[in-house]
Amino acid sequence: MLIVAGARPNFMKVAPLLTAFQSRKAHGEDLETLLVHTGQHYDARMSDSFFRDLGLPEPDLYLDAGSGSHAEQTARVMVAFEKACVECSPDLVVVVGDVNSTMACAISAKKLGIRVAHVEAGLRSRDMTMPEEINRLCTDVVSDFLFTTEPSANRNLAAEGVPPEKIFFAGNTMIDTLNKHLERALDLPLPDGIEPGDFAILTLHRPSNVDAVESLNRVFSALNAIAERIRIVFPAHPRTAGKLKAIQIHQNIRVIEPLGYLAFVGLMARSRMVLTDSGGIQEETTVLGIPCLTMRLNTERPITCEIGTNVLIGTDPETIRQTALSILDSPPARRAIPEKWDGHAGERIADTLIAQLRASDCMG
Ligand code: UD1
Repeated sequence: MLIVAGARPNFMKVAPLLTAFQSRKAHGEDLETLLVHTGQHYDARMSDSFFRDLGLPEPDLYLDAGSGSHAEQTARVMVAFEKACVECSPDLVVVVGDVNSTMACAISAKKLGIRVAHVEAGLRSRDMTMPEEINRLCTDVVSDFLFTTEPSANRNLAAEGVPPEKIFFAGNTMIDTLNKHLERALDLPLPDGIEPGDFAILTLHRPSNVDAVESLNRVFSALNAIAERIRIVFPAHPRTAGKLKAIQIHQNIRVIEPLGYLAFVGLMARSRMVLTDSGGIQEETTVLGIPCLTMRLNTERPITCEIGTNVLIGTDPETIRQTALSILDSPPARRAIPEKWDGHAGERIADTLIAQLRASDCMG
């Protein structure tokens, strides 16, 4: 089987799958797993450091897809992954998340008649201006095994007509990784001058927020006002870093390089509040009990708002400012952790896939 990772948010999702399959193999299960890195993210800061932090093995195959327009990047991954599939003839391809590599590899595999498993299936923002929403829809429609993280995903897939026997509510492999590494992350020192509980974190990389200077300026007019009250640490994604020169940034906002996994989790877990437009951070803050303000108009992860610590605040500067200040004045109580976000999702997925493959071998 081939397990695919392409971009930063994929690495922590595949790690528990590899561990679970390795342990099944050590217990006598007859299976071979190869890790494929598409090269969508290639910077040391966006890729290599994650392999080190998570103890991931060197990829068995590196496709070197790199950056480009969506079509260029997707096409390069599709062509390279098709070759890899022809050479390796896997009986299963496992893709995770919603990045361009996820969709590209799912489509290439399916067109060769190879079964596809999608981990983190069924999430929907209903926002077709988000490239990830298109990736999620296309990936799910060609997938044979759809592993979900929250009840909304099961409902979405059912409403789209996916047969129930293809859907498996497995939990969240990203949270497996968080639980496993949290203690190590908390042992790391904070950046100079940063005290636990006395800073906020900012992450920002969605094209809708950062690609146009006007949008970035709007968001920063709120962030600069919040920075009057609390220091903000901002590890900037390369996409965003390139745009910051044109923006006025308060001196209390410390812009730093993208962090490795452990350093980022260690920082997040000791912060007072997180401001973000990311997907996965909404889930990690829910588990850590840290208030999260998501600067987007929608979320594909509604459970984080329903029972977690996430608040969807949109992109209106005054709303962002007021909500952040009210959270600083009266921090909300810690809320619940979603069902099956218990550190064992990777094991459940591995066991399900092994059973499914065995059943189809027996029949076929
Ligand atoms: C991708 C994912 C997004 C995810 C994000 C996390 C898609 C559609 N988007 O967005 O869902 O939240 O990763 O980081 O797949 N760049 C570098 N070094 C790298 C990679 C990228 O400098 O290692 C720069 C390049 O200028 C590139 C730009 O960042 O053009 C955007 O990279 P890309 O992979 O296209 O999308 P992300 O914004 O990273």
